[in-house]
Amino acid sequence: MFPELKNDRFLRALLKQPVDTTPVWMMRQAGRYLPEYRASRANAGDFLSLCKNDAFACEVTLQPLKRYKLDAAILFSDILTIPDAMGLGLYFEAGEGPKFKHAVRSKADVDALPVTTADDLDYVMKAVTTIRHALNGHVPLIGFSGSPWTLATYMVEGGSSKDFRHIKAMMYQTPEVLRALLDKLARSVTEYLNGQILAGAQAIQIFDTWGGILSGPMYQQFSLLYMKQIISGLIREHQGQKIPVIVFTKNGGQWLENMAAAGPDALGLDWTTDIGEARARVGHQVALQGNIDPCVLYADKEVIEREVENVLAGFGHGTGHVFNLGHGIHQFVHPDHPKYLIDAVHRLGAKYHEPQFDDLDALNGLD
Ligand code: CP3
Repeated sequence: MFPELKNDRFLRALLKQPVDTTPVWMMRQAGRYLPEYRASRANAGDFLSLCKNDAFACEVTLQPLKRYKLDAAILFSDILTIPDAMGLGLYFEAGEGPKFKHAVRSKADVDALPVTTADDLDYVMKAVTTIRHALNGHVPLIGFSGSPWTLATYMVEGGSSKDFRHIKAMMYQTPEVLRALLDKLARSVTEYLNGQILAGAQAIQIFDTWGGILSGPMYQQFSLLYMKQIISGLIREHQGQKIPVIVFTKNGGQWLENMAAAGPDALGLDWTTDIGEARARVGHQVALQGNIDPCVLYADKEVIEREVENVLAGFGHGTGHVFNLGHGIHQFVHPDHPKYLIDAVHRLGAKYHEPQFDDLDALNGLD
């Protein structure tokens, strides 16, 4: 058993239960913008060694929580752990992002891939449990995975890409090969996320970083369909607690209704979508997470506070909003600036959760 949760604002907002103020966390909150992260990475040797050692993964997960009043922690790991466990040989070259020794290009390549289990990623499960204990109930712990489509882009391209030519050629030319790959990934991701939940993750986020490069019909068939399959296979309640699921498709603002229909508790929004319009479209079905432009953190305190207020006002009154950046924090952000953002969310957010006249009338028994 784990220690009792002291701050459940984040989980409550995802489930659209009343909160005292808007909860906030930041995608990629543990990372290179923090000098203490760079020191831990130097100690561990490299990025993957941080991920593969639970003491290091725990240390860097907690670093941003020591600096800022965040309402959630996120497991320190990477989305590419699954393709690595499938045997593709993940490595990182300085300044070039992730790479695989073996790219997946043919039916034979796909056929040779195993479906992975939580046991194959035991170091991740161990990190989840270690972090959950170390948090000591301070805030909830988010587990995560990449979407099958997003993982497949890295596996087929052999690393990061600008034009996605190999995977898009595969999608149009041999869709059955891509479907076989996405199906193996969906099964592996389901096992992986359920493993994280059993190990102690209290909410789940699926990162669909590259769903937004697809046309609408292709997004439905090659990204959303597999996320839907995962969501329906997830453990949604564990030890008496609901496990909320967040789907984040970067540049997915056109497809919010379809995403909401796939069954998550919340949708992550990037900054190109208006959060008020998003709420009007799908706010009756799901909570929303986002969506300030991460580049706001390059500006000074006054600008940060003004932009925070704009996002809070854009969502409007009531629960169902988790404040976040529209994508990961940049490595060149000054580590004092996230403090301005987080403190402003809590301070300025409170007025959006005060009882309104209608609520007061109900309380007083008036009509
Ligand atoms: O949010 C958090 O604090 C948790 C940690 C986290 C990392 N990666 C740590 C990381 C999470 C949630 C991820 C997910 C991830 N990894 C995504 C999806 C998220 C998104 O932003 O949409 C993607 C596409 C990846 C793949 C990946 N890993 C990339 C593209 C890179 C950057 C490579 C580069 O050099 O810029 C990584 C490496 C990585 N993952 C770093 C961190 C802190 C930096 C590694 C370092 O220390 O040099």
